[in-house]
Amino acid sequence: MENTKKILYSAVQPTNNLTIGNYLGAIKNWVNLQNEYDCFYAIANMHAITVRQNPAELRQKTLALLALYIACGVDPEKCTLYVQSHVPCHAELAWVLNTFTYVGEMERMTQFKDKSAKHADNINMGLMDYPVLMAADILLYQADVVPVGMDQRQHLEITRDIAQRFNNIYSPTFKVPEAVYQKVGAKINDLQDPVKKMSKSGENPNGAIFMTDDKDTIMRKFKRAVTDSDMQIKYDPENKPGVSNLLSIYSVFGNKTIAEAEKDFEGKGYGDFKLAVGETVANKLAPIQAEQAKLLADKAYLDEVLKNGAERAFKAARKTLSKVYKKIGFYQL
Ligand code: TRP
Repeated sequence: MENTKKILYSAVQPTNNLTIGNYLGAIKNWVNLQNEYDCFYAIANMHAITVRQNPAELRQKTLALLALYIACGVDPEKCTLYVQSHVPCHAELAWVLNTFTYVGEMERMTQFKDKSAKHADNINMGLMDYPVLMAADILLYQADVVPVGMDQRQHLEITRDIAQRFNNIYSPTFKVPEAVYQKVGAKINDLQDPVKKMSKSGENPNGAIFMTDDKDTIMRKFKRAVTDSDMQIKYDPENKPGVSNLLSIYSVFGNKTIAEAEKDFEGKGYGDFKLAVGETVANKLAPIQAEQAKLLADKAYLDEVLKNGAERAFKAARKTLSKVYKKIGFYQL
């Protein structure tokens, strides 16, 4: 049974604070997939340093992210949860794959171009090589599927190209992975600019609810959420983006349909409506935050999770790396 499960690989960078949009889009997804697949979930700190990081913060955010994922229901017994830099095979395979990747291909990557513009003072080789490291991540584990956001599409395509290129030159070595672009079950928009996606780096800090926001902050942000002037609480994203966004948030966090959500607010005013949405979100986040704090206070446990994760990951990764080294002619002891 165990070895009939397909292998799933995914990773997140331990950088920015996660919003409730990330929670619905990525974290919950990881939780849902862990029973169906043999999952490898990495905290991609090696990708993170392609833009300059504060070392103390990077360290802290690595543990905070681990604790958050566990608090949300990612089970370290069911899946392999680990930190990328703990498994040296990633850097090793990336080096080899570099020699199967063309400079022109990397220069054409949209994210590289965007990030080069954004960090013009630090266009380092790692920034350019980012997709090759990502290919190494995925190919090391012989992943069948890789769930990612649409922004990672090009990176998945180049991963497939590199895998096929290597397989064609030698013999089948890597599984060519399928990308699964996440269905946005509930699209959460910015509270201040409700036609835009809620983002961790949005212009107005009141536009996003972070997983770490306390109740007062959550209530304040919802109170200030942009609505409209027609005073009707109904779902109409075209004409009433603000109200519709609040209704979506209320419905997913309260496990209700949009129709049920509308019904809850029949005859009510926007003031009451915003309070109720805020309460619903705060009540959902409170137990997750409490669990995250509890986990963060138990560093020994988190270290144990990471140690086990790294060991399991290393075993799988090393197997692939050995095959690669053999095929390319590295003398092995
Ligand atoms: N680049 C991905 C992101 O920023 C994170 C990532 C690193 C990743 N390695 C990966 C995602 C491998 C999927 C598979 O979202």
